[in-house]
Amino acid sequence: LPHETFLHCLSLRSNDSSSISRVIFTRQNSSYESVLEARIRNLRFNSSDTPKPLVIVTPTQISHVQATIYCSRKHGLQTRTRSGGHDYEGLSFVARVPFVVIDLFNFRSVDIDVENRVAWVQAGAILGELYYRIAEKSRTLAFPGGVFYTIGVGGYISGGGFGLLFRKYGTAGDNVVDVQFIDVNGRILDRESMGEDLFWAIRGGGGGSFGIVLAWKLRLVPVPENVTVFSVSRTLEQNATELIHRWQYIAPELPDEVYPSVQLRAINSTQDGRITVVASFISMFLGSIDELLPLMEQRFPELGLTRQDCTEMSWVQSIVFNNGIQNQPLEILLNRTYRNPVITPYYKIKSDYVKQPISETGLNGLFSRLTEEVASSTVIILFAYGGIMNRIPENATPFPHRAGNLYKIFYNVGWLEDDKVNAERRIDWARRAYNYMTPFVSKNPREAYINYRDLDIGSNNIGDTSYEQASIWGHKYFKDNFNRLVQVKTKIDPENFFKHEQSIPPR
Ligand code: FDA
Repeated sequence: LPHETFLHCLSLRSNDSSSISRVIFTRQNSSYESVLEARIRNLRFNSSDTPKPLVIVTPTQISHVQATIYCSRKHGLQTRTRSGGHDYEGLSFVARVPFVVIDLFNFRSVDIDVENRVAWVQAGAILGELYYRIAEKSRTLAFPGGVFYTIGVGGYISGGGFGLLFRKYGTAGDNVVDVQFIDVNGRILDRESMGEDLFWAIRGGGGGSFGIVLAWKLRLVPVPENVTVFSVSRTLEQNATELIHRWQYIAPELPDEVYPSVQLRAINSTQDGRITVVASFISMFLGSIDELLPLMEQRFPELGLTRQDCTEMSWVQSIVFNNGIQNQPLEILLNRTYRNPVITPYYKIKSDYVKQPISETGLNGLFSRLTEEVASSTVIILFAYGGIMNRIPENATPFPHRAGNLYKIFYNVGWLEDDKVNAERRIDWARRAYNYMTPFVSKNPREAYINYRDLDIGSNNIGDTSYEQASIWGHKYFKDNFNRLVQVKTKIDPENFFKHEQSIPPR
């Protein structure tokens, strides 16, 4: 059996074989399933026909990672690295060839240095642990990360990382200052020893292509003692279409301190049982209600924002609030297994970028498709761009979606256990909505966000991957930065050991 020679190799390589044996799980091991399933967030990838790893290694020491890379190469096994397990296509724990999962959940220390405004965070920590540890030491420091706090720092920052501070401070990858990294030869590299090309590639070029990130050194950013959050909802009957049409012009031009988004859902209107669309204008502002109200009155009077719609709170509380779990103690951010009830156990997502405002007729076509799918978890979110994103060059990191974008569209269709029979129909709905949007969104390439992984836009062959085939999805995620990613890959991993369905190929 391939994994028996692999296991033998691991015990020979490890300088302390008793310690490595405690972090190896095979199917014979009674904890194998619970270790595997603990970080499967999307149950679409936990069915009886989902391919499972031969072995899971949960390293507690760097030497365990090095030994796993060495023995996997030697015995021809693929490895998949998992930090938080949120990959939308399950690529951190599913492969169609014999494979080993390196699950970094034990690499989770977070060290905050308030004086120098930096933090060292290990890859297996979740965003919530980072936020909580920052808040323990300072109310006026933050990290520009995502809202859903069980996301792993390892995969999130590898894909750029977008969140509510991104119009002010850029992507998470823009705020990495150093790294601890292991390459295919087991060498431990930092920014200086890896050189600027590889350091550029790993801050947005997508996880699982270049090697394994063990820890990031992050820049912490200033935030006011209190931020303001608001949510204002309007149905189609309350002029939602006109408001969204205006929003497209206004939101990308708002000051960097405002983070504007719109969530769209179909609901059964309570009055007459008809189906309508509700648009929720949700924002976070780095400042007080007194500063926000006159700004919104001047820029977007049509929204009719009032003091009652707004709440002031600390930045870290705004993370909990935006998860829809107000009145919870901050300690909930440390709960790595938390499953937010707003996210269904099964889902499929897609993404788009909008560069020209969409006409009201065009928007109405999208809303009528939304009303075909009255499921609480089917949601389309518009995330405004602009702010600092217009001022950071497209090639600063692999994340290329900068100036020229008004907003990003996130399409999410989700379903519950008892609705599994309708899974294909629901996924098909997402694809049809996406097809409908073709004339209104970016073209040549039709851009997409790597962290919103979507295998519909193209994937590599299971065996060898050609540059041509990879450039189909690669240019959508990275535009011209794809070619530089290929050059870096060719240098650091020419034999393509670190690979998956959307990994960067060497030339
Ligand atoms: P996971 O462990 O699945 O890894 C993802 C990819 O990175 C895989 O290819 C994996 O092999 C690789 N990888 C993981 N750890 C690595 C390491 N240490 N070194 C090298 N490669 C590694 N995104 C966003 O930008 N903003 C957001 O607000 C959100 N919100 C959001 C909500 C929910 C509910 C989900 C499910 C996802 C998001 N995302 C997101 C997307 C998320 O950022 C993306 O899925 C990240 O890759 C997740 O990182 P994890 O470590 O959790 O994933």
